[in-house]
Amino acid sequence: MLERGMHGQWNSNLTFLLTATGSAIGLGNIWKFPYITGEYGGSAFVLMYLVCIALVGLPIMVAETLLGRRGRLSPINGLRHVALESGRSARWQAVGYLGVMTGLLILSFYTVIAGWAMRYVWTTLSGAFSGQSAQQVGEHFNQLLQNPGAMVFWHSVFSVMTAGVVMAGVTKGLALVSRWMMPFLFAALLLLLIYAAWAGDFARGFAFMFHFEPEKLTAKAVLAALGHSFFTLSLGMGAIMAYGAYMPAQAPIGKTIVWVASLDTLVALVVGLAIFPIVFAVGIAPNSGPGLLFVSLPVAFGAMPLGALVGSLFFMLVAVAAWSSAVSIIEPGVAWLVESGRFSRFSATLALALSAWALGLLTVLSFNHLADFKPAWLLHRTFFDFFDLLTAQVLLPLGGVLMCVLVGWLMQKRVLLDELEGDASRWFPLWRFLVRFVSPLLVIWVMSATLMESLGK
Ligand code: PHE
Repeated sequence: MLERGMHGQWNSNLTFLLTATGSAIGLGNIWKFPYITGEYGGSAFVLMYLVCIALVGLPIMVAETLLGRRGRLSPINGLRHVALESGRSARWQAVGYLGVMTGLLILSFYTVIAGWAMRYVWTTLSGAFSGQSAQQVGEHFNQLLQNPGAMVFWHSVFSVMTAGVVMAGVTKGLALVSRWMMPFLFAALLLLLIYAAWAGDFARGFAFMFHFEPEKLTAKAVLAALGHSFFTLSLGMGAIMAYGAYMPAQAPIGKTIVWVASLDTLVALVVGLAIFPIVFAVGIAPNSGPGLLFVSLPVAFGAMPLGALVGSLFFMLVAVAAWSSAVSIIEPGVAWLVESGRFSRFSATLALALSAWALGLLTVLSFNHLADFKPAWLLHRTFFDFFDLLTAQVLLPLGGVLMCVLVGWLMQKRVLLDELEGDASRWFPLWRFLVRFVSPLLVIWVMSATLMESLGK
């Protein structure tokens, strides 16, 4: 019999708030959100994303945290406990296995991109971008992509940093990284926003994000917005469930999660409002793909006073934001291996981090030697694009729907009320309605519409 709560507990609800926010705010907000917004034409995507956060992300995030705290173990064993408690099949733990696998896939490319940011801390600081044109900076980024050795180096450094924190444990590792970095993150973003308002084309950037053009709303854009709302809130794979398992028993889940989701959304919007005005000011098309952050911003920093210093600080924050997310991506798997009794925290982390690292080599090669390797079985994409698509747009939403079924339809209402006791009861019926009907049906509808569309082609 596993001892529930064996991994430790956050010492306060504030620690849960900070670690969950640390997990949510990461490359998804700072790197991915701006470039997919650019790819899907701006405002239509942003508005869909906001709708998805409110109707799907938020309710599922409450459900996932609740599952975690009720289970008080890794997602795999926690789900088993929760299902059995309500008289359901222990097989629900399969959702936990799916999550651990999804986590490995996500971490494999996450550490590569975070590695780019770490490398840019140094390049920007060295003054390499001062006075450079957009084209020269673009060339510099391409050279990095053509250099697998450099990418593997930074990918490895970041993997070791991630593993180091997870090995240090729940309170001495995970809680600590989130605690000291959040204030810095907010301060730096504010600085960037002020700079963008002052030096960038703010009006154009703002219009690009918020001027609604319904004709841009394609099924693909809607699925991308939905997938992104899962990715950015760390939902559907057990990261938030694992953190929920360490949450103090009395803490109000609903209220806390509203804070986490709001902060995460706010950061994404602020990053967009900082980046697009700069992009327009330097004349780069905002759909320039995964490189957006690594081209347009360095150009701007290269032109501003103290740019090398401020730019370097910015990339440091990107790396740190990614760091506090990366640790949450492998925590579910680590906790589960430890529970098996055959691993220490050290060896469990080592095994998982090494697997993700090795898988990450495929992402590194997607930008150079394997850039043209796009076979049908990868849906005519590179490994990187395929892993990104598979996790954000298929596996995370799938995990989310399964959690909705368990929480909304199979768990006893008494258990739900018990866990949500600290929250205002007038929200309970609305939340339950969303979890039973709205969130899962929206996900299924959007996914099948996209599937039909691509099959029809
Ligand atoms: N939410 C993180 C981000 O936006 C990524 C993440 C996904 C973290 C899934 C944990 C689990 O960068």
